[in-house]
Amino acid sequence: MKVKPIPADRLPALLRAMPKAELHMHIEGSLEPELIFALAERNRMTFPYPDVASLRSAYVFENLQSFLDLYHAGTQVLRTEQDFYDMTQAYLARAHADNVLHAEIFFDTQTHTAHGVDAGVVIRGLHRACADAATQYGMSASLILCFLRHLSEQEAFECLEQALPFRDMLVGIGLASSEVGHPPEKFARVFARCRELGFRLVAHAGEEGPPAYIWSALDVLKVERIDHGVQAMHDAALMRRLAAERIPLTVCPLSNLKLCVFPRLQDHNLGRLLDAGILATVNSDDPAYFGGYINENFTQTFAALGLSAQQAWQLADNSFTASFITPERRRACTDRLQETFERFQ
Ligand code: ADE
Ligand code: ZN
Repeated sequence: MKVKPIPADRLPALLRAMPKAELHMHIEGSLEPELIFALAERNRMTFPYPDVASLRSAYVFENLQSFLDLYHAGTQVLRTEQDFYDMTQAYLARAHADNVLHAEIFFDTQTHTAHGVDAGVVIRGLHRACADAATQYGMSASLILCFLRHLSEQEAFECLEQALPFRDMLVGIGLASSEVGHPPEKFARVFARCRELGFRLVAHAGEEGPPAYIWSALDVLKVERIDHGVQAMHDAALMRRLAAERIPLTVCPLSNLKLCVFPRLQDHNLGRLLDAGILATVNSDDPAYFGGYINENFTQTFAALGLSAQQAWQLADNSFTASFITPERRRACTDRLQETFERFQ
């Protein structure tokens, strides 16, 4: 769609109103401090921070690992199917308020099985919340199970085995956690097995790690989308390939800012990725920790980079193109996108 320029002061309202899909968010990263304390109390646990304010004030990170350590502490309060349901329900309500029509939700079971929680408890809780959001909000939501890359290939195989009884509740498989030192090829065999099983495949690559990890996620793991991928900027041949093959990047600007991947939001390369013809999308990653849900990612990044209404349309349209929804659902979503832009023209 060719979009006419709109006055700068109307752009934030358009960004908030436009229908969108969110394709990169970790459900455990949507756990707000208030819910952490409520779940700790419900499960009669003590949490190593005295209150919400002191926990929130600890959300200052120097890199991915410093975040993952605190993120892991938050996951300890999740014990029952209802806990997983409540966390997911809270995210979906928040996403609905941001006009997210479709969400593909990352989760992992390895964190929770290490705490003695069964994989089925996790998956059933998440799935029930997704089903209820469809009824309540008309949203679609599906689940992507991520292997933790700091753990072994053998442990990823065990994780897959435990998830297979719930195969019908999952759309895909991803790869998350500490990137540097854990290249995609470490998981070549387990991803090959997931491909045989018919899962859609994605992987985090090029968040902090080098462009070589993006190449191997594509060529060894054979993923369809790259999560983050912002380091592709340092490899011209890779940039050309991503554009030519229309490989989506699920970019998370506020995450990149909080984890010091870019020193300032004005330095973020989202605009340059779009200018290079790459199918980039905007996402929140871990919204409770990084200072904003998807609409905050859109409004702050557009303000910092001076992006246009045309680029807003492109990013929203890309989010539906890059998603794993059916062609019919995609058409319904893009029709609503068009209607919203026509109202603002
Ligand atoms: N798990 C949660 N957030 C993550 C991120 N930004 N990168 C890798 N793994 C994650
Ligand atoms: Zn992520």
